[in-house]
Order: sequence, then C-alpha cells, then structure tokens
Amino acid sequence: LELSNFVNEAFTDFTNGDNKRAYEAALAKARSEFGRTYPTIIGGKHRQLAKKFTSTNPANPSEVVGTHFESTPVEVDEAIDAARAAFTSWKKQPVIARVKLLLEAAKIIRERHFDFCAWLTLEVGKNWAEADADVGECIDFLEFYAREALKLDGATTPIQFPGEKNLLRYLPLGVGAVIPPWNFPFAIMAGMTAASIVCGNTVVLKPSPDAPTMAALFVEVLEEVGVPAGVVNLVHGGPAVGRALTESPLIHFIAFTGSKKVGLEIHERAAKVIPGQRHIKRTILELGGKDAIIVEADADIDAAVDGVVASAFGFNGQKCSACSRAIVADAIYDSFCDRVKEKVEAIKSGTPESNAYAGPVINQLAYDRVLSYIEIGKAEGKLLTGGVALKPAEEGYFLAPTVFRDVPAKSRIAQEEVFGPFLAIIRSSNFNDALAIANDTEYGLTGAIYTSSREKLNRARDEFHVGNLYLNRKCTGAMVGAHPFGGFNLSGTDSKAGGPDYLTLFTQAKSVAEKR
Ligand code: NAD
Ligand code: ALA
Repeated sequence: LELSNFVNEAFTDFTNGDNKRAYEAALAKARSEFGRTYPTIIGGKHRQLAKKFTSTNPANPSEVVGTHFESTPVEVDEAIDAARAAFTSWKKQPVIARVKLLLEAAKIIRERHFDFCAWLTLEVGKNWAEADADVGECIDFLEFYAREALKLDGATTPIQFPGEKNLLRYLPLGVGAVIPPWNFPFAIMAGMTAASIVCGNTVVLKPSPDAPTMAALFVEVLEEVGVPAGVVNLVHGGPAVGRALTESPLIHFIAFTGSKKVGLEIHERAAKVIPGQRHIKRTILELGGKDAIIVEADADIDAAVDGVVASAFGFNGQKCSACSRAIVADAIYDSFCDRVKEKVEAIKSGTPESNAYAGPVINQLAYDRVLSYIEIGKAEGKLLTGGVALKPAEEGYFLAPTVFRDVPAKSRIAQEEVFGPFLAIIRSSNFNDALAIANDTEYGLTGAIYTSSREKLNRARDEFHVGNLYLNRKCTGAMVGAHPFGGFNLSGTDSKAGGPDYLTLFTQAKSVAEKR
C-alpha cells in the first residue's frame, strides 16, 4: 500500500458560492431526514429496543433530529459479548486490511463532507466553519491513525542483542469501551473508535445522548466500507449505560473524553478488579479545562484581543480548549477590557443553520449552568458584557456571550469549568504573577501567551504547565499531527490524540527474542 504523506484536510472556503449552496443543500437534505429512527447495533444486528429517546435541535428544541434506542445493562452485556466474539478474528487481520477500511471510511466522509457538517449544525448547533473543522478533523484522525498503525506494525527494537533476533510487536488489548463527549461528536467519537479498531481491538461505542445521530451516521459508514460485524457495537444511553459498560470485567480499556467529574469516576471504577478479571483495565481519559491566555503589555494587542475572543467564544466556548481566563497585564488592563467588550458585543447570535457566529448552547442543563455561573460571577467580579439569556430555553438555548472583569484568581469563576460563552478577565501585576495565576488551577489542558518578548516566550515554554501551549496565537483549533492533544493535571492522562504515541495506548507490546 503506497500512502502519500499525511496532510490535514483543508478548511472549506464559504465565500465561494458553490460551497455555500452545497452547504444549504446538505442542510435541506438532512432536514428531510429528520425524525428517522436509528438502530442500536450489536454484533452487526440492527436492533429496536423497548425504550426510545430523541435527539433535538438545540436552536429549536421542539425539532426532533433523530430517534434512538436507550440500552439497558442487558444490551450492554450483549454488545460486549459481540465485541469479544469479533475480537478473535479481527485481531488476526493483517494491519493493512484494517488500515484500508479506515482509509475507505475517510474517502466516503470526504465525499459527503457537507452532509456530515449539516447534521452537526442541526444536532449540536455548530456553525458552518465549526462543523467543517469537526468533519475535517474526523477525516484527519482516520488518515493519521491509518499511517501510524502501519508504522507501529513495522516497529522494531532499538537494539538487536548479539546472537539473537529481537522483535517488538504491538498487540491489541481486547474489548474497549469508547465513550465520547457531545461537543466534538464526530471527530473525537470517530478518532477514539478508529484508534481502537485499527490496532485490532473491538469496541462498544456509547456516544453522548446529546449527539447520538453523529455516531449512528459514522457507524453506517463503517458498515458501508465493510468493517465486520461486532467490531464496533453501538449502544446508547447516559450515566447508567456508561457505568454498566465501564464496570464490566470483560472490558480491557476505556477510551473516554468528557468532563473531569465523569472521567475521575471512571478512573476510580476501572481500578477495581472484579473477581475473575485477569487484566488491569487501561484508561485513556481526556477531561476538562480552565484554559488561560496571558496577555502582556508588550503584545500585539489587536492580535491578543482577536485571539482571546475567538478562543473564548468560538462554538460558544463549548470546547475543552476554550479560553475561560484572560490574564492581562496591569498596564493595559482597562483598555484591553474595553476592546474585548467592543468585540464581544459585535458577535452575531443566531441559528447555526444561518451560519451565525454564536448559536445556542447544547441543552437545558448547559443553559441553566451558565446562567447560574453568571449569578456567581456577579458576586465575584464585575459584569463587563452579556450576562443574560437571549431567548427562553424552550425557544432555543441562546445566551449572550458573557465577560466578567476584575475577577479574583481564586474565585469560582476563575477555577471551575463553565463550558459555555463565559470569560473571566483577571489582572496580573507582572509576568511572574501572570504565570503563577495561569498555573494555579487543577486543570492543565491548553494555554496561550501574547507577548513580543523572546524571554517571556521562552519562560512560558518552560513554566506554563499545560499539555497544549500556544505562543502568540489562540488556544483552540489543535490540528491532527501538528498539535498532539491532551492535558496535564486533572485535565487528563495526556494521551495526545492525533500524535505519534497515541496508538501505543491501545496496544500491549510483546518482546520476542529468538536465539540465532
Ligand atoms: P460528560 O462527562 O458529561 O459526558 C461524556 C460522556 O460520558 C458521554 O457519552 C456521557 O453519556 C458519558 N457518561 C456520563 N456519565 C457517565 C458515567 N457515570 N459513566 C460512564 N459514562 C458516563 O461530558 P460532555 O458534557 O459530553 O462533554 C463536555 C466535557 O468534555 C467538558 O468538560 C469538556 O472540557 C470535555 N472535553 C474534553 C476534551 C479533551 O480532549 N480533553 C475534548 C472535548 C470535551
Ligand atoms: N481539539 C480541539 C481544539 O483544539 C478541542 O480546540
């Protein structure tokens, strides 16, 4: 198999009329399929279960995007059994066969790029550029892990011991639980699934109940390219189904991306060895963030304002990478706050379908959570802009982009992940102070600094304790391959999705020495 070098999928230019029309046509097509019922898939069998649930459009919650079936622990066990059965043959497939399936899936998704974008717009409220990036990242993961799997298969020991032939083979672990979040419901869901199966594992995929359709559409693609029955089993549900899945002694690994709270619960549960269990469950956990951007007085202030606003309010701040703290030097503090206020107040809110910059947050819980943090913020800092709901929840979960200034570094809104259109601006008295504030959190996912000082950039490189650091640019938008992604501290196990070490997490290496 001759593969070209990996290149990231290009972003779509929506100023091009053809692309704009294609997106609108894809939206109309997706709408025409609204309300379709998607099966639960166990061992290749399409199943209808007793309990249905719907996925709705966050911009208009009365619209049903898709209907799905909620599993019980019984189906979870059946799905695990189906994955175990499929593992016996899947693990023996040549890597090249598995790689070809990933590449075939990438090709189909590329061909129907706008269709998947449209579903993202309608199911989770991504505007066109955000949806385009999610689909592009999904393709990138498939293409990247295909290449990485080939590399891993060709790996050898660094040293050959005299008189022996030494080998290192990366074997799959077994059956995995893949539990993605709702906010990158295509890229992260597909990325964790693809990494698992390309290494020879089989999985039970349990998507977020807020984005079940995106997972159903991906599994349809896997079926279309011929991924064998039982390799990817699809069950739906919330915490109870997630618990049943991760508690099973038959699960070998758990690939989870989501909140700190759930991730730590999974970590704890996975540590418990159930009688009869003969393996230690591996956890790959990527969690939340309280990401900071430091802005120094010597920075290009225009670039810093743009970077902070884009990082804080892109997709309404619903990214683990979102900037939720701007740590701004005293000398420019007031003017920086004024500039941010002006820029944030120019943000256009509206439906994701109309490609407004700011759409709704995902659901009623998120809407209520952000509103409650606004009340906390009013007691802790000074409201600079926003602070209100733009519509009653039943008409769509629209909130005004909100900024608080004069926020104490240890206050709740400076420490807790809000996961919405919500920014806290904190004053720093000098660069040491700024770095100390940035690092004073239990998280450590992304961070950025704007400065023209080489010395400060160097110090940030050494001392800013985050998994993904950006110098003089925004802290969102990691690209597969260039920015392997994962966080420090309670932001996760730093698995570095989209990086050269990621696949090893889904394998166990066997050393074989043969006497010559
Ligand atoms: P969440 O933790 O609420 O849910 C994530 C997944 O876990 C969902 O599929 C959910 O159904 C499932 N789940 C819920 N309770 C469970 C339980 N008790 N046992 C097993 N599974 C359970 O997170 P979310 O709201 O979907 O996503 C937002 C969170 O994800 C934010 O905290 C965000 O920062 C984080 N996130 C992190 C990254 C990263 O790469 N670090 C990327 C995206 C999102
Ligand atoms: N990978 C996403 C970003 O970097 C979360 O914004």
